[in-house]
Amino acid sequence: MSKKFVIGNWKMQLNAAESARLASAVMGGLGKSAPGVEVVLCPSYPALSAVRSALRGSRVALGAQDVFWESAGAFTGEVGASQLKEIGARYVIVGHSERRLLHETDAEINKKLRAVLTIGLTPILCVGETAAERAAGRRNQILRRQVSLALRGQKLAGKKLLIAYEPVWAIGTGKVCAASEAAKAHLFIRSVAQKAASLYTLYGGSIEPKNIGGFARLDEVDGVLAGGASLDAEKFLSLVKAFDREY
Ligand code: PGA
Repeated sequence: MSKKFVIGNWKMQLNAAESARLASAVMGGLGKSAPGVEVVLCPSYPALSAVRSALRGSRVALGAQDVFWESAGAFTGEVGASQLKEIGARYVIVGHSERRLLHETDAEINKKLRAVLTIGLTPILCVGETAAERAAGRRNQILRRQVSLALRGQKLAGKKLLIAYEPVWAIGTGKVCAASEAAKAHLFIRSVAQKAASLYTLYGGSIEPKNIGGFARLDEVDGVLAGGASLDAEKFLSLVKAFDREY
């Protein structure tokens, strides 16, 4: 069975000290358990360094929530992939819907994905339809556009790529997508992204310990990207345990 991923997206919720404390709690609670589950924590930029220090010696990986597409230069306020690599990040979220809502385009996401792949980090590409698009029966059309434009022209041979199906209407709303529906979306994403050498599809959107079971037992679901539940060490660890049980 393929590797499973449980990833926490802490958004802009914690300062550096709080992030380091939470990272230590996750690391301590995890210990050597769940060896088949890759655990990744994505704090905000100013907390990356503190979390990296807190995680020293642990198998919990560090991820960033965004990246700029240029490698270096006069780009005030931006952070490049090599800077993220230097600070110890191994994963980078690209194209989260909260950034798409701030007008991040498919073309920009394509460039960000290229920057991440080029520097040798693992992208977590986020895709998903809004409530209106879902109601209009356009889910697959949206997924096809977002996935194919993000992957256009990318050199994926030998690379690992994570794609998180995150229906926008399920993010932070408590409205979780039915696991069977998510499984269909995952299969569709895999069919669009077929050239990706090492592809894993994750689900994200109001994942909680109470609803994780239905997802963890599906072959189509290689893991989860959790927001709210990742801010509580116990809840987050129970997501990891759910995947460990099914592994
Ligand atoms: P949520 O967020 O778990 O709080 O819905 C998920 C995400 O935005 O990745």
